[in-house]
Amino acid sequence: MNAILDIPTDLEAAPAQDVLRWALGQFHPRVTLACSFSAEDLVVLDMMTRVVDHPRVFMLDTGRLHQETYDVADRVRARYGIDIEVYFPHTESVQSMVHEHGLNLFYKSVDLRKRCCHIRKVEPLGRALSNVDAWLTGLRREQSPTRTDIPKVDVDDAHGDIFKINPIADWTSDDVWAYVREHDVPHNALYDQGYASIGCAPCTRPIQPGESERAGRWWWEDPELKECGLHVNAGVQQS
Ligand code: ADX
Ligand code: SF4
Repeated sequence: MNAILDIPTDLEAAPAQDVLRWALGQFHPRVTLACSFSAEDLVVLDMMTRVVDHPRVFMLDTGRLHQETYDVADRVRARYGIDIEVYFPHTESVQSMVHEHGLNLFYKSVDLRKRCCHIRKVEPLGRALSNVDAWLTGLRREQSPTRTDIPKVDVDDAHGDIFKINPIADWTSDDVWAYVREHDVPHNALYDQGYASIGCAPCTRPIQPGESERAGRWWWEDPELKECGLHVNAGVQQS
């Protein structure tokens, strides 16, 4: 899609609900939420259900997610009565990667970790976004040094110049959890065990008091650089 559209100039300062209403009004049903079932994503989903009856949602199932993530996905389906589009990596790509480098290759080098993320997440994301004009995320600026500049409405040149909309970009973690409590939004049980950010099981661990919220993701890597490649425009460009 060629991203030529009048974007209201005041959207950057608008509340998340207004940004979402604009996005859904412009693009639904050709707009979809990228959902890892984080608290952030489920806040955005809850807001979407208040605007349209059947919001589109997809997840990238890397094959290495926690059982608790599948459990909350089921609770979300039941709670909102929605379908979740699930995208898997290509079997042959995973097979040849683990054949060559082993099942736990992500611990061996940053390059191999990125290769695993590319095969299990980035390539499937391309397929998920191939038939939409816009996508929504739960990204927040506060989450990491690589995300401090993300706009609420962006043009995603990595995926054919479609719109990328981050309605809660300016929210704090406290804002997210206040919304979860107020609206009784389902949450991943791992949050109750000290996890603050949840990705794949082998690459995620709980954080200690005082650590930053993404400290438990790829904890062996440089915090200034760690991104999995889903968000190439989020601060640091990925190779
Ligand atoms: S990641 O890039 O480091 O994995 P993070 O877990 O912080 O990202 O999530 C940021 C946003 O990326 C989420 O709010 C969600 O929109 C999207 N996202 C991350 N993982 C997935 C996934 N497995 N499936 C769908 N969307 C995802
Ligand atoms: Fe592979 Fe870890 Fe990336 Fe998941 S987060 S795709 S297991 S390297």
